[in-house]
Amino acid sequence: MGSFRVVSEGPLTRPLSGTVYVGGAKNSALKLMAATLLAPGRSVVHNVPDILDVAVMGELLRTLGCEVEIAYPEDADPTTGSTAGRVTIDVPEELEHEAPYELVRRLRASISVLGPLVARCHRASVALPGGDAIGSRGLDMHITGLQELGAVVRIEHGQVVAEVPDGLLGTNLWLDFPSVGATENLVMAAVLARGTTVIDNVAREPEIIDLCQMLSAMGARIEGISSSTLVIEGVERLHPVEHSTVTDRIVAGTWVFATAIAGGDLHIDGGVTHHLDIVLDKLVASGAEIESTETGFSVRTHRRLRSFDVSTLPYPGFPTDLQPFAMALAAVSSGTAMITENVFEARFMFAQELARLGADLRTDGHHAVVRGVPTLSGAPVVAHDIRAGAALVLGGLAAQGATVVAESQHIDRGYPWFAEALAAVGADVSRLQD
Ligand code: UD1
Repeated sequence: MGSFRVVSEGPLTRPLSGTVYVGGAKNSALKLMAATLLAPGRSVVHNVPDILDVAVMGELLRTLGCEVEIAYPEDADPTTGSTAGRVTIDVPEELEHEAPYELVRRLRASISVLGPLVARCHRASVALPGGDAIGSRGLDMHITGLQELGAVVRIEHGQVVAEVPDGLLGTNLWLDFPSVGATENLVMAAVLARGTTVIDNVAREPEIIDLCQMLSAMGARIEGISSSTLVIEGVERLHPVEHSTVTDRIVAGTWVFATAIAGGDLHIDGGVTHHLDIVLDKLVASGAEIESTETGFSVRTHRRLRSFDVSTLPYPGFPTDLQPFAMALAAVSSGTAMITENVFEARFMFAQELARLGADLRTDGHHAVVRGVPTLSGAPVVAHDIRAGAALVLGGLAAQGATVVAESQHIDRGYPWFAEALAAVGADVSRLQD
């Protein structure tokens, strides 16, 4: 539990300045940890963020029989960027094959052990994660894909149970939608299948590329990495690996929106501009300045930006994970923005919280119309998920008075040291304990 307290006198009154450091991507690190299950022996994942989800994934891997050691620097300091961790995973020859509900319900990404377990053990039983604050998040493509690869899959007592006694068999399959999670699970299954698997309409997020690169370094044979079609030649055995996690484009994007909302001049060390092309183009068109540097990029805004429309799509489209930040920015920009959420149907819960800060918005289905106002006004609000929570903190940077964002444990799940890093670049943000 806990809350973040943000104090401001309104947009652009307390500009941010200095450097923030972007570490490894949560959405990659968790899948890389799951992928180590594919090879017996000791693998090491570097540049892992200091967040609870990594500890939960570590616990899950232990339940499956691995020895897991998670180490962060003792003198971790967000003002110098020395916060990245290292996870060492010793994977046994014989794995347990059951991922229990107690762990899966704490971490949806647990579902990414399904593919590796089916590939390694020829059977898996992984609890269904259930609903969460941003929508129903189906698993049909994960399941159909495994069935196409030869597995018999059924739902039993709240578990997805998959069995393939003679091992997976390569085939041609396609996804109805480029789902990140389904792509990851099916790639991790196919690398140990017999024969060739072609998967069409795969997701192309940088985190998928990171996973494919790690699998390749483990001995997997994957062609078409970063395209929409992956061709995977199954191999009999993979070997352990040391791999460094790609930096977090959503955290980098969050800092871009923080600067757009609060004003200022921020260097985002570790940020990769080409992971955020569409986002940065929109911000530049609306009045922000972006400049690449040797170690990242910088963002500068000194006046109110013009509103822009957003329509979320799979990569390289506008990321759904940055949509709440775009909404918070639109709330204080000049003009009107139409925001369309195409990926997660329930993501607009956040809009109701933003309205508590005085945003002028209406939602209808998966569209929101946001009319910019000159300033928001501080109020108590609640973080329902990681991104919504961080976006409310940014809303607070543009709100007169104090904004208290409750349930800040959600923010900590995606942003190690968020309050500390914001304070280090000039924002008045502190943590309150309940
Ligand atoms: C991942 C990210 C999440 C990000 C999302 C989209 C992690 C831990 N989470 O989530 O932060 O917002 O990608 O970039 O990496 N769907 C189905 N059936 C399926 C699979 C997905 O209907 O079998 C639907 C989902 O309900 C959702 C949409 O497809 O509406 C996108 O889901 P997906 O791309 O799979 O996202 P996640 O992997 O869950």
